[in-house]
Amino acid sequence: MDKLVINGNRPLCGEVYVSGAKNAAVAVIPAALLIEGTCRIENVPGIKDVRILEDILTQLGARIEFDDKNSIVIDSQNINTYSAPYDMIKSMRASYYLLGALLGRFKRAEVAFPGGCDFGFRPIDQHIKGFEALGARVEVEHGLVKAYAEKLVGNKIYLDVVSVGATINLMLAAVKAEGTTVIENAAKEPHVVDIANFLNSMGANIKGAGTDVIKVKGVSALSGGATYSIIPDQIEAGTFMIAAAATAGDVTVRNVIPKHMESLTAKLMEMNIQVVQGEDWIRVIGGDRIQKANIKTLPYPGFPTDLHPPTAVLLCRAEGTSTITEGVWDQRFQYVDELKRMGAKIKVEGRIAVIEGVPRLTGAPISATDLRAGAAMAIAGLAAEGRTEIYNVKYIDRGYENFEEKLRKLGADIRRVTE
Ligand code: EPU
Repeated sequence: MDKLVINGNRPLCGEVYVSGAKNAAVAVIPAALLIEGTCRIENVPGIKDVRILEDILTQLGARIEFDDKNSIVIDSQNINTYSAPYDMIKSMRASYYLLGALLGRFKRAEVAFPGGCDFGFRPIDQHIKGFEALGARVEVEHGLVKAYAEKLVGNKIYLDVVSVGATINLMLAAVKAEGTTVIENAAKEPHVVDIANFLNSMGANIKGAGTDVIKVKGVSALSGGATYSIIPDQIEAGTFMIAAAATAGDVTVRNVIPKHMESLTAKLMEMNIQVVQGEDWIRVIGGDRIQKANIKTLPYPGFPTDLHPPTAVLLCRAEGTSTITEGVWDQRFQYVDELKRMGAKIKVEGRIAVIEGVPRLTGAPISATDLRAGAAMAIAGLAAEGRTEIYNVKYIDRGYENFEEKLRKLGADIRRVTE
């Protein structure tokens, strides 16, 4: 079991290069199942979730070649099964994209139910409602979601909640359906747009991604043969921006799309942190006096829920009392108890974290309770006085490429210890 050991209280300084977006990659790779041929995908982040998915695709019959560390060629010609049982997908949270992709390809899919995750139950009722609207019969039995259709026919689908997963899954299922599918109240996250762009580059006809109405005109086949480059990771970029601010550092984050960072940039500036940006970079210059702030996480373009735990660490250093209202996930507060062990003063009231600024955090042994909580723990360790040991690093490895190497280049005293 690995742990990260950090000696904190040093400002992060320098430049960091952001990897491809995890939440785009975990959808683009299953989307390649829809292509009866090959596609080349660049800017693929080298993270655990991606490696697991590549493995799953190989087990389904795809051939995957690595062109270089971050580029893969997927050949889905010989996919020979529509079934992804529990054994195959048990360590993958985003397995639900296999449902939409296999259903779109074979009109049939059997995928183990994704079940709970590190911060609570993750329902897929909106995915199922959408598949049914396209003409599929969907049953959940023996731990599997089974979807079957004589044919898939485009329809109008109104999502009751704004769901990234359901929006993408319905695009996958609809891309080769007969007629036009209209997804209303669709999610607008950058990775939703990225999946639509990927599918369009392979021959799909999807319009409106990035707005709340997406129209998918079914095509008979996806030709493939093209190369697609995944967008930079909005959440990784945000993590480094927050780490710079929390350590009173000066970091230029490269390979970002500043537009995707607007909600964070605005909040940082409100907190008295300097932010300067160019076409594909953002520089964050932290200082000693951080203003309190009130934040509510919301679907894009709102403040991202995945930056909630890292931001909570930053607000521990602010003057006065701040709040973070969680507007997406009910149970995203496990990180609070760990931070309290470092001297944070946080109370959780329903879906609101009330954070009282403290003069300093102090290093302690703590646990990553999920991916973004893990990133938050690392930021806390970097900002704290003394030594912090972070356990359960496997969560961080799921979603951040070369996390500690990137931090070390910024001057952090961080190392991985295998016990
Ligand atoms: N929801 C439903 N029914 C559904 C689907 C979702 O009620 O059928 C609810 C959820 O319970 C939640 C809300 O809708 O309250 C939003 O869920 P969404 O479907 O948008 O989340 P997701 O697609 O499962 C993705 C990211 C998460 C990120 C959320 C919100 C991936 C692989 N995961 O999850 O990222 O928190 O969107 O932006 O894209 C992470 O990267 O650490 C992570 C957890």
